[in-house]
Amino acid sequence: MTSTPSRVGPGAHLLVTGGAGFIGSAFVREVLGRRDGTRVTVVDKLTYAGNRANLAPVEADPELRSRFRFVRGDIAVAAVIRPLVAEADGVVNFAAESHVDRSILDPEAFLVTGVIGVHALLDACRREQDRAAAGERPAAPRLVQVSTDEVYGSVEEGFSSEGDPLAPRSPYAAAKAAGELLARSYHVTYGLDVVMTRGSNTYGPYQHPEKLVPLFVTNALDDRELPLYGDGLQRRDWLYVTDHAGAVEHVLRHGIAGEVYNVPGGAELANREVVARLLRLVDKPWSLVRRVEDRPGHDRRYAMDGTKIADLGWRPRVELDAGLAATVAWYAGNRAWWTAIRSGDWDAYYERQYGARLRASAEAAPPAGST
Ligand code: NAD
Ligand code: TYD
Repeated sequence: MTSTPSRVGPGAHLLVTGGAGFIGSAFVREVLGRRDGTRVTVVDKLTYAGNRANLAPVEADPELRSRFRFVRGDIAVAAVIRPLVAEADGVVNFAAESHVDRSILDPEAFLVTGVIGVHALLDACRREQDRAAAGERPAAPRLVQVSTDEVYGSVEEGFSSEGDPLAPRSPYAAAKAAGELLARSYHVTYGLDVVMTRGSNTYGPYQHPEKLVPLFVTNALDDRELPLYGDGLQRRDWLYVTDHAGAVEHVLRHGIAGEVYNVPGGAELANREVVARLLRLVDKPWSLVRRVEDRPGHDRRYAMDGTKIADLGWRPRVELDAGLAATVAWYAGNRAWWTAIRSGDWDAYYERQYGARLRASAEAAPPAGST
């Protein structure tokens, strides 16, 4: 294992972009909750997906709050980002438009944050590298670019390795691939200290309820239909949110500059089977599930090889069944959190995304052996 760059170890000052989102907020809660003196500044634009309530456990604790700062801002705006990067020992970039379905409806925001935004962060880090070279700060900041298995495109069989070609197939995945490539180019061209992670499908508490797991759990809790795309035999590798956050922190501390690390969950399942497990946990019938028109360009399968990050000393800890049970229990116990989100613009989004699909829907086939 490589040595930990001390500047991003305990006591460091981290800039966490997108820290009011699902995985970013888990990272912040985890890192501050360890009470090792680490300071965190979150910068978040608070898009529809960003939510200050995800950071409430931090803001409610005086000791955590004393090491925490929240800045509402856009990573694509240099004037916002530069002074924040100037104060940071490490930058962890979670900020992104993150929902494939929205990228199909309206791609531009994905490019602004995923390309211009990532570039603005890289440029700010490069300026700090110049300041470090001039003796104006101890070292350049390390940047972690949080990416996704979706950059590999659909993998019909086998497992993607970090050296495989990128073949993104949705505007979301294309924007994420572009962000990674820019990050790598800054390492190669300017020697910037950049590391990258490619996480798999993540689930857990505090996930915006338009993604598969929370959408289906919250719909099922309210006895509403569950819109399953196509035959529901698309396969995903599921990663619990604290494991994803932990892997990002591990790579921040131990990753080799310029390298990319796959972060698989090691729990590959067809969507139908995930839905059947969720329904069992909420004790609702399969008859809620509706087969609806498929997502255009829907990737059939993602699956990654995790040898490289295992060699770096990281493995997922949370088994799928335990993670799903914890997730369902959280949504059942935190109805106020998600009913606040499922108001306002929610109905318009839901109608645009699912209205016609549900009206034309059919019965969905259950997984083999299921009732
Ligand atoms: P999320 O949508 O819940 O959170 C994204 C956060 O970024 C939100 O708080 C949003 O307000 C913020 N944001 C968006 N644009 C911004 C901008 N221009 N400036 C500042 N903040 C901005 O997403 P998530 O699921 O937590 O994903 C976090 C990261 O992990 C993303 O980069 C995503 O691509 C990646 N990822 C997610 C998954 C997954 O399954 N959720 C899997 C692999 C990788
Ligand atoms: P999603 O959570 O959007 O993640 P991703 O597309 O990034 O993998 O979807 C997970 C899987 O669930 C994906 O195969 C699409 C499918 N899906 C549905 O069948 N119905 C839905 O309403 C949603 C949101 C997703």
